[in-house]
Amino acid sequence: MQRSRHGRVGEHSPTASADEGRAKQRAFCIAALEEGDDLSELRELLRTAGVAVVGQIVQHREKPHPNSYLGPGKLEEVKLAAKDADANVIACDDELSPRQERNLEEALGMPVVDRTSIILDIFAGHAHSAEGKLQVELAQLEYNMARMRGLWTHLERLGASAATPGIGARGPGESQIETDRRLARNRITALRRKLVGVASSRATMRAERERAHLPQVALAGYTNAGKSTLLNHLTGAQVGVRDRLFHTLDPTTRELRINGRPYLLSDTVGFIRKLPHQVVDAFAATLHETREADLILHVVDASAEEEELAEMLAAVDETLEAVGAGDRPRLLVLNKADAIDDERREELRFAHPDGMLVSALTGEGIEELGERIEEEFRRSLRSVDLLLPYAEGARLAELHEFAGDLERTDTADGVRVRARLPVTLAERYSRYSVNGTPA
Ligand code: GTP
Repeated sequence: MQRSRHGRVGEHSPTASADEGRAKQRAFCIAALEEGDDLSELRELLRTAGVAVVGQIVQHREKPHPNSYLGPGKLEEVKLAAKDADANVIACDDELSPRQERNLEEALGMPVVDRTSIILDIFAGHAHSAEGKLQVELAQLEYNMARMRGLWTHLERLGASAATPGIGARGPGESQIETDRRLARNRITALRRKLVGVASSRATMRAERERAHLPQVALAGYTNAGKSTLLNHLTGAQVGVRDRLFHTLDPTTRELRINGRPYLLSDTVGFIRKLPHQVVDAFAATLHETREADLILHVVDASAEEEELAEMLAAVDETLEAVGAGDRPRLLVLNKADAIDDERREELRFAHPDGMLVSALTGEGIEELGERIEEEFRRSLRSVDLLLPYAEGARLAELHEFAGDLERTDTADGVRVRARLPVTLAERYSRYSVNGTPA
């Protein structure tokens, strides 16, 4: 087992799957919950990390035990059950304090990973852009720094109990820990500096896109909602789709054409409940896309239970608000229509009259979704009446590209074009405007 504090939990080879043969890592899940025993998200996270789940035990308690997360009696039960299930790692549904983690490992006799380290590990395997990678490394370092501090106090205690320690006596291993921490701090500073550079180049890229003046649509939604599948279906793009969480960490932008008119469609990283604070920046970096979007498609897995659906919708809304995208126009896309019965469809239509019920898998409702997207932008289209000299062939070609259907007449002085363009684009052609049309 590779330890979380040194990097990875799971294995990220494309073939590493919990379902294939006997997985190398077999996790036994534990949780302290007030009620219920639903650990489906932790299981999904583990599956995404390539770890098989071989069992689970939930203890009902108001809050986790401060020293050992679960109560001592329950730990005995976990130890036996994990051994019976032939587990080789314990996965905890919450973030553990360094002390809880250490005590759990001692009591259970096997490595323990917590939710945060699992998420960080998945991120490490899925971050592709320079910024994504830096953000993940930063998050991992910061997470590990806290663990080192924990280890340090632990060792300090050992040092103090040693025979007659003098003033400034050093616990065993302290100097190594100090060195590690200093190196980690230096690396954190260097990473922060690099990130500033990367963020400014992202701003440059965005500025270039803005210069293209194409309407921008961003997909946002809970992880596993079907955003990548929808992006593929709408654009015909080959963005990898696997039934794994966080498949998309970096924003991916593709061109989408509806009735010949181009739009830019960006995918964003999936949202998640109980987001560990260490990874918030890594998420936010990819969600900045949504702040510039002219329209956000909020995709949700409509086959989820009502309560879960409401929670997911609220989580996305809150996060969009938090990253400054709260004011962007939004369209609700209720995906996975193929997986719900007629009664539930009716309920959903009633509860979300403005939502679009689609299936990215079967293609149901996708055409209507395209029409809705077009309709959202139609309001912002402006009619233009232009006369382009024959010498401006490139401009004409550009108009054909941007305007979808346009009306053209060849005249003695040039090509007369009547079209409807997004406002930002219309301004570019104002000098060809005929009869003072406000182009
Ligand atoms: P993240 O990248 O984790 O944020 O996920 P995502 O929202 O991009 O989801 P993705 O497109 O990867 O789909 C997740 C899973 O849902 C895959 O197994 C898809 O095949 C499945 N899926 C997507 N759309 C549909 C749909 O309309 N119906 C059904 N039944 N399954 C779907």
